[in-house]
Amino acid sequence: MHIVAELTLKALKPHGADAWRHYRQALTTACKKSPPPFGSKAYGDIYRDAAGDPYWMAMSLLANAQREGEGAGQLWDLASCTTNDPIASQVRQHAIDESGHSRAYIALLDLAFPGVVEKTLHAQLASLSPGYTRESPREPHGRSPFARPITLDDLIQMNIAEIRTLIHHMLQRPMLVGHCAAERHHRLISILDALLSDETRHIAYTGALIETFARNGEAPTVTGLVQERLVDFNEITRHELRQSVFVSV
Ligand SMILES: [Fe+2]
Ligand SMILES: [Fe+2]
Repeated sequence: MHIVAELTLKALKPHGADAWRHYRQALTTACKKSPPPFGSKAYGDIYRDAAGDPYWMAMSLLANAQREGEGAGQLWDLASCTTNDPIASQVRQHAIDESGHSRAYIALLDLAFPGVVEKTLHAQLASLSPGYTRESPREPHGRSPFARPITLDDLIQMNIAEIRTLIHHMLQRPMLVGHCAAERHHRLISILDALLSDETRHIAYTGALIETFARNGEAPTVTGLVQERLVDFNEITRHELRQSVFVSV
């Protein structure tokens, strides 16, 4: 089994993924047919090489804060337009999580590189997060391409993106700990643990929904789309790698 499928299914075990026959099969086959570059040793080596530079790492944390904030907005729009309540509720929670992650990345930046962000800039960085809560108005942004009900295709793309996020997290963690002063390790690690738990849950709930679609007559579509979208995502990853970009959602 490809390392990406293996790591994913291991992380999903506590979420009940052993019973997700269709999802497991689709992911395993897709990873075998189109091995994700983010699972290769070369990818990890390039990341570690770049992330040893404190300036690069600080910029990477900022890029992640921005990407998490943008992702939160897109998920919020999808959730706001999805009429299936159980699905909408999970996607809304996902948006709230990513909104919190944007702030978490700024907190990581402050812990690993204290003083690097000036006070005046902090307010601007805080605004990268939309600050969603359960009480936020359930309305999409005007003219958003995500102001529409969520589809199986969206869930598959989200699932693959979250798997890459999990791999990024695993690569990032030891490098970030290495940049952080020992007296702040405890706080840094508690934020990283919370991020890891959330990102694993994002793979899990989208995986469970994909499995439900497959059991309800969409199994061939699931198999085909997981393969197709992994090919697309691998190409996106190669493109980002050429620019030394490692963003997460
Ligand atoms: Fe996520
Ligand atoms: Fe996230």
